[in-house]
Amino acid sequence: TDTIIEPFRIRSVEPIRFTTMEEREQLLKEAGYNPFLLKAKDVVIDLLTDSGTGAMSSKQWAGMLESDESYAGSSSFYKLESAVQDITGFKHLIPTHQGRAAENIFFTTIAKKGDVIPSNTHFDTTRAHVEHAGAEARDLVIDKGKQPQSDHAFKGNMNLEKLQDTIREVGSEDIPVIMITVTNNSGGGQPVSMANIKGVSEIAHKHNIPFFIDACRFAENAWFIKTREDAFADKKPIEIAQEMFSYADGCTMSAKKDGMANIGGFLALNSDELASECRNLEILTEGFPTYGGMAGYDMEAVAQGLYEALDPDYLRYRIRSISYLGDKLTEAGIPIVQPTGGHAVYLDAKQILSHIPPTEYPAWSFNNALYLLGGIRGVEIGTVMFGKQPDGSEKPAAMELVRLAFPRRMYTQSHVDYLAEVIISAYEQRKKLEGYKIVDSPDVLRHFSARLKPI
Ligand code: F0G
Repeated sequence: TDTIIEPFRIRSVEPIRFTTMEEREQLLKEAGYNPFLLKAKDVVIDLLTDSGTGAMSSKQWAGMLESDESYAGSSSFYKLESAVQDITGFKHLIPTHQGRAAENIFFTTIAKKGDVIPSNTHFDTTRAHVEHAGAEARDLVIDKGKQPQSDHAFKGNMNLEKLQDTIREVGSEDIPVIMITVTNNSGGGQPVSMANIKGVSEIAHKHNIPFFIDACRFAENAWFIKTREDAFADKKPIEIAQEMFSYADGCTMSAKKDGMANIGGFLALNSDELASECRNLEILTEGFPTYGGMAGYDMEAVAQGLYEALDPDYLRYRIRSISYLGDKLTEAGIPIVQPTGGHAVYLDAKQILSHIPPTEYPAWSFNNALYLLGGIRGVEIGTVMFGKQPDGSEKPAAMELVRLAFPRRMYTQSHVDYLAEVIISAYEQRKKLEGYKIVDSPDVLRHFSARLKPI
């Protein structure tokens, strides 16, 4: 059969509260036209993020009851350590409360003023931690990775020539690490090929530079390698993941994504000296090294979740549910970032709302239209998020996208059919949509709390 069904039965449900369009108009107005300020109970389908929002399995819940909450030497830590070592091969596990805490420990330890840290594309929190340490975060994704319509199997790949040029220009002594983000969230959830991971690793090691993976969505990346890269079709996702990690010296991880948990993360690495330096900071900022920022039950959930994320039936369903929506929108002529990535569909609002200039926030407008029409909450990745410059001026972002990120194992096919209907209806009414202006905003990360008004 062709139908790919959800590879699970639902044993516990959470009601969705439906609202009318009139109610949503009022709710959005009260929230200053900022979906971040809506109450989650007022959202019908919540695609704000795939981070920490998924459904856990019965086995994960069982593990949570069995957990060991000992301060030191908890058996839940050893279970997580064994899962992480099995999948990544890295010697040291440093648990943290989420991904950015691992980034904080890692970059504070290795980076200093004047350093440059290349990546395909640094995620916002990664970039912020690199910059907080005084270093420069440099994005070297291939050119096709920046073109929404270009069809390339691995749009998350790093440009290896640019990486070599950067090493020549900066000098290896001022590059404390080379990173690669799998999948490339900021570039549309696009995968990185095994050949590219290997290529980056070879260049890094030739220059004695450590190579680390931002591994949040490592399992989704493994599935793309299996289905798109020659020689991997017959490999299991876990074998592919093991090979990906074998080329690296360590990773940072947000277990809120492919750890299938609601909270958690870790830093894992091979170097004894670096691990001991990182642990010193971990004790200061997160907690004792056998729990870091996590409760015993969180470590149990992640230890089990890492394997569930690598289940081929789950991954087939996961990647298909994203492309299922992408296909429906493409058929309706709606421009999206092509091909669909691992965790989200990205709508190209610059094209959809070409009558709204970037300074009037077209992606913000389309995202709000989805909420008004159908109670859908996505997130703007455009000029509201990136436009404000350090000197206070405003510059249009490179792209105006609406990201619809799918929580893991949460929504069914009929939810996705509903999504498509609402998005197509918003698209048909696009000429009527208007821009927005900001009426009140904080100095940094303004998209989280700014208040806006339709123009
Ligand atoms: N790296 C990547 C690639 C991410 O996507 C995220 C989080 C992090 C690091 C930080 O992890 O949230 O556990 O501290 N991304 C979420 C998102 C927030 O919505 O894309 P965290």
